[in-house]
Amino acid sequence: MSFPDNFLWGGATAANQYEGGWQEGGRGIAVHDLITDGTKDEPRRIYCRNDQGEETTIQMGECVPFGYRGVLKEEYYYPSHQATDFYHHYKEDIALMGEMGFKTYRLSISWTRIFPNGDDEEPNEDGLIFYDHVIDELRKYNIEPLVTILHFDMPLNLATKYGGWIDRKLIDFYLKFAKTLFVRWKDKVKYWITVNEINVLGGYWTLGLASNNRKKGSHSNQGETPLEDAGIKFQSIHHMLVASAMANKIAREINPKFMLGTMCALSGIYPATCHPDDVFGAYEFRRKALMFSDVTCRGYYPNYAQAIFDEYGFKLKMEPDDEKWLRENTSDYLAFSYYRTTAYDRFSPNTTTTGGQQASPNPYLEKTPWGWPIDPEGLRFVLNELYDRYQKPLFIVENGMGNDDIIKEDGIHDTYRIAYLRDHIKEMKKAVEIDKVNLLGYTTWGCIDIVSAGTGEMKKRYGFVYVDLDDKGYGSLKRIKKDSFNWYKKVIATNGEDLD
Ligand code: BG6
Repeated sequence: MSFPDNFLWGGATAANQYEGGWQEGGRGIAVHDLITDGTKDEPRRIYCRNDQGEETTIQMGECVPFGYRGVLKEEYYYPSHQATDFYHHYKEDIALMGEMGFKTYRLSISWTRIFPNGDDEEPNEDGLIFYDHVIDELRKYNIEPLVTILHFDMPLNLATKYGGWIDRKLIDFYLKFAKTLFVRWKDKVKYWITVNEINVLGGYWTLGLASNNRKKGSHSNQGETPLEDAGIKFQSIHHMLVASAMANKIAREINPKFMLGTMCALSGIYPATCHPDDVFGAYEFRRKALMFSDVTCRGYYPNYAQAIFDEYGFKLKMEPDDEKWLRENTSDYLAFSYYRTTAYDRFSPNTTTTGGQQASPNPYLEKTPWGWPIDPEGLRFVLNELYDRYQKPLFIVENGMGNDDIIKEDGIHDTYRIAYLRDHIKEMKKAVEIDKVNLLGYTTWGCIDIVSAGTGEMKKRYGFVYVDLDDKGYGSLKRIKKDSFNWYKKVIATNGEDLD
């Protein structure tokens, strides 16, 4: 058998895309509650207003202009408000996860459900009780909760009052939030992720940042940032890295058995050709992503970090103890997302990307309907790359294919999703069996359909379970098993041996 007996098979979601119940149980408003729906061609937007009543809009990845704040407009649809309503369906959904035999389920905690304003003195007990119920329900089915503390979640009040993560006070607010969770679930949760995809965060929606640069932002959630905004982004992410390290220390004092990781988006990158400029360009491009996992896994900024900062004319500001915090409180494992690979082409290098995820398409790979190249072998490549580099256990906490599923009279035949996952699991298996990579588990993304983060669509579905809801929020929310449901159930039951 290639996968260890305790291999953690499961699925993953995030509160901002799944939970809903946005005004229930005392939950406060987060910036993601102000993001409209979109499509793959029509960017999601945040409407903003200043004190004079003037309005403007920003896209995901952009900063809010100084003096403006995000507002809700009645005429628009905001997908996070209801999302796919885990808030009211958690029992039914967890039963479905249990039926599939999940060993783990990765969920994120809504910051504003616990601290509605982010800077409240006391946590909101109703919010904690909701997650108590979720965690107890998971335990009922022997499903190990894997908790992401922060997944694309920015309390609106912290963005408005402090300007987001550029202010170091955010470190304290985050630590209070994290500590509340560690203490509450010290005997019920073992696996933690301090921050989701820390290397691709940017702008108002994930960092709460303001700036007067009005260059076009990214349509995707992969953090394309105007050159001039890269500095505040790096500085803010530095604050988050320090916060993560401090959270690790607090967590270990509460329960030394906790497993703590910070998560990075580490879909792979190849050179477009064997031209040395493409090869070294790809190498440099990859470092823009690896720089962050270098900090969380090794405990310090790598030698090449300064070259990246120089590219953006940025000088990192460190407090005297920051380096010590980072050095002494590294992650126990590296959690990462993997969806695709891209190719670096010297003729069209994307110099404004500070997260290191956007580059040219690869002509050798098929694409999903949303244009994401499908590259199972790339997963084996990345698993080896990361394990060679860090020699720490790895955890694939997101992988999957977004597709528009069609309901037929005799069911939902998502053969394309089964093929995608099967091919990726085969390569993951080779990495474990042949290359001896230490892999803790695998959680597929959006195991029950959720709203797409990048486009805000419902029809970009990832799940084994279909949720009856359309792009404008109409539908019964009924859960329907797709063909992939029984397929994944069999994969888990055979510990990855039967993939047919
Ligand atoms: C990851 C995020 O970047 O990609 C998820 O952590 C997101 O929140 C996922 O949903 C897939 O992206 P999308 O845009 O298809 O939802």
